[in-house]
Amino acid sequence: MTTPRARLAVLASGSGSNLQAIRDDLVARGPAASAELALVVSDRVAAGALERARSWSVPAVHLPKERNESLDALLQQHAITHIALAGYLRLIPLDVVRRFHGRMLNVHPALLPAFGGPGMYGARVHAAVLAAGARVSGPTVHFVSEHYDEGAIVAQWPVPVRSNDSADSLGARVLAAEHRLYPWSLHLLTSGAITLGPDGRVHGVPDFDFDRELP
Ligand code: GRF
Repeated sequence: MTTPRARLAVLASGSGSNLQAIRDDLVARGPAASAELALVVSDRVAAGALERARSWSVPAVHLPKERNESLDALLQQHAITHIALAGYLRLIPLDVVRRFHGRMLNVHPALLPAFGGPGMYGARVHAAVLAAGARVSGPTVHFVSEHYDEGAIVAQWPVPVRSNDSADSLGARVLAAEHRLYPWSLHLLTSGAITLGPDGRVHGVPDFDFDRELP
């Protein structure tokens, strides 16, 4: 018996470059893909993410902040089984966080648990990394929990900070690493290779060889 494909919703407020990377990965995997992109949601009507979804004929829904609480109903309508947050700036309602426990990932553009928490998004994160004098940054993929940026960590990738970096130049290199790490992590999740255990830890993540290329 073949396992049915996961029905993935991507929630994004911005341009959707991570959404693009996720979609590219699913297309590249072809019949071996363990998920299909079933819905894209944005709180911003002009989000590039919605435009991208429409160009692929994937259902694209603008959910204004006044309707934020109806997110779960929307996900149910589309029979969504897994969620990827990709630069989504609205708080996820608690009913969604609870129902998708162990089935919702986020990507954060720094090495958690440092440089995370409310208000830490976009260029602010990279500016904080530079201000702290950190020598290494990089993306973190983690499960979404009831506490902002505190869910169990699935994967991280080191991106060295250069002495002449600006928030923009560092952010661009971290983003390029996100584009590799996030689709890979989502494949692990939707294929059932990794699980969030009752101990709150992630099980099944393969060990990385950091001397090698990104997965
Ligand atoms: C990324 O930096 C991601 O880490 C953060 O939001 C940004 C989204 O960018 N959560 P994009 O819309 O995927 O280009």
